[in-house]
Amino acid sequence: MTAAYEYETHEYDVVVIGAGGAGLRATLGMAEQGLRTACVTKVFPTRSHTVAAQGGIAASLSNMGPDNWQWHMYDTVKGSDWLGDTDAMEYLAREAPKAVYELEHYGVPFSRTEEGKIYQRPFGGHTTEFGEGPAVQRTCAAADRTGHAILHTLYGQSVKNNAEFYIEYFALDLIMSEDGQCQGVVCWKLDDGTMHVFNAKMVVLATGGYGRAYFSATSAHTCTGDGGGMVARAGLPMQDMEFVQFHPTGIYGSGCLITEGARGEGGYLTNSEGERFMERYAPQYKDLAPRDYVSRSMTMEIREGRGVGENGDHIHLNLNHLPAEALAERLPGISESAKIFAGVDVNKEPIPVLPTVHYNMGGIPTNYWGEVLNPSAEDPTAVVPGLMAVGEAGCASVHGANRLGSNSLIDLVVFGRASAIRAGKVVDADASNPVLNQASVDAAFDRFDNVRNAKGGAPTAELRLEMQRTMQADAAVFRTDKTLKEGVEKMTDIAAKIDDLHVTDTSLVWNSDLMETLELTNLMPNALATIHGAEARKESRGAHAHEDYSDRDDKNWRVHTVSRVDGNKVDLTYRPVIKDPLTTEDEGGISLKKIAPKARTF
Ligand code: FUM
Repeated sequence: MTAAYEYETHEYDVVVIGAGGAGLRATLGMAEQGLRTACVTKVFPTRSHTVAAQGGIAASLSNMGPDNWQWHMYDTVKGSDWLGDTDAMEYLAREAPKAVYELEHYGVPFSRTEEGKIYQRPFGGHTTEFGEGPAVQRTCAAADRTGHAILHTLYGQSVKNNAEFYIEYFALDLIMSEDGQCQGVVCWKLDDGTMHVFNAKMVVLATGGYGRAYFSATSAHTCTGDGGGMVARAGLPMQDMEFVQFHPTGIYGSGCLITEGARGEGGYLTNSEGERFMERYAPQYKDLAPRDYVSRSMTMEIREGRGVGENGDHIHLNLNHLPAEALAERLPGISESAKIFAGVDVNKEPIPVLPTVHYNMGGIPTNYWGEVLNPSAEDPTAVVPGLMAVGEAGCASVHGANRLGSNSLIDLVVFGRASAIRAGKVVDADASNPVLNQASVDAAFDRFDNVRNAKGGAPTAELRLEMQRTMQADAAVFRTDKTLKEGVEKMTDIAAKIDDLHVTDTSLVWNSDLMETLELTNLMPNALATIHGAEARKESRGAHAHEDYSDRDDKNWRVHTVSRVDGNKVDLTYRPVIKDPLTTEDEGGISLKKIAPKARTF
């Protein structure tokens, strides 16, 4: 029997789920074109996780020295360890300057150079001369609170353009037609317990990453992979989930982020011998090598007995040689975080840091317009009508096996904007809304009701902790056949316990017990896809450092992992990486020779 919930129905051209940088940029772009646009978000927009983005947004503006989009594209290709889709990486690098100038004109308060231009700092893996020249200053910054500045500006602009916000609404499940078209989403309003059905011609998933599948993450507690969960339940795939980024400088203990901008401004890492060890691992770019490189180097130092602290289990980040004024002007936020979370005065002492889960390169597969893909052997780029995914929830794929710092904020705005451009072409504002598939609406309420009344033996917090500890231990910076096999076995058992959950509070108003349980049902398929994808991939590439297969294997593994999760089962298939750029060298694009795979050294 179908669970009986009364609900209100809302009709829009576009419904965006999530109000971080990608969600807001998509919302704004849709609303600017006159599409009736709703943004549904489980937290107040300016509390979305983008608010925590610190160091900046990459774009080849050339404000601090020579730069161009081809160099940015090359760095992104190399950063991805040749797993990114070349068309999407070209789109990202080409459109980045335009997207940043748009932000400036919308009102983002960027830091400025003496001449009044947008200030840019160096970030890891961003170079000149196709990786042959010195590090470039490409990362546009608003001190170390860039995400905060962007989020507030985009929210204000969206409101100004008449986008409608549904704040503190939790998206439960997608509404799918019999023939596979997305028609909307079913939501639960957290503050009054009412239920809502959104009928839309286009749904955009901008739900962020799933960092909270791990025990220690820089991600907010709201980063629970809600888009991936909804997509998995709709029978759609996720892609490249085994690639999980560890940020080198999470504060030891709390996991709070210390921006890579700290190293961009001249900070450096040392081991217990006071040695600047990155000089050994990455002689050219040292502390400004990409994150996978630096995180592995730190882990190796600790393993070899050169970690700092009582237990030799972390590393020092030194900023105390930098002028106090520079720290106050360029890095005020992390100076405060270091004080609060590590008890450190950055003017005097080093910050204790450790590689910490920070970003998911994988996500819901899309083309570079943000349209969700449902690949098959016959058609690896088949589009799901009515559904888009942008930002960390999506996988365009521009980050491949490893993302460069500050390429995330630019991904959010470039692809949020791209989804709006595409929606302007494919959404007919004059057409009527789809006739909803009632069976799909009912199924969403049934699932909600089952979770709400779950009376099994596994409390949510206990099961979540089991998952987080397993992922932390078995899908870590370094992986082996043994850890991954054990991880798959443990996660299969842990995921089976979803059917044995226990929810104590069945009320519908501000029920955090129920909300966290629903979030756990979203985290679980993300975690399963991650560990299965990692176990199957017999090579090392980017953030997937496999100790039993230490080399990259382009012949067999330059492919995207496509994972479909059903309960605690995961089905893996593979689709080819897109190797062709959008433009040829003759058209002003990048030469294929330049971006051909080669050894990835720094
Ligand atoms: O280190 C940071 O400021 C983080 C930036 C990013 O992940 O892109």
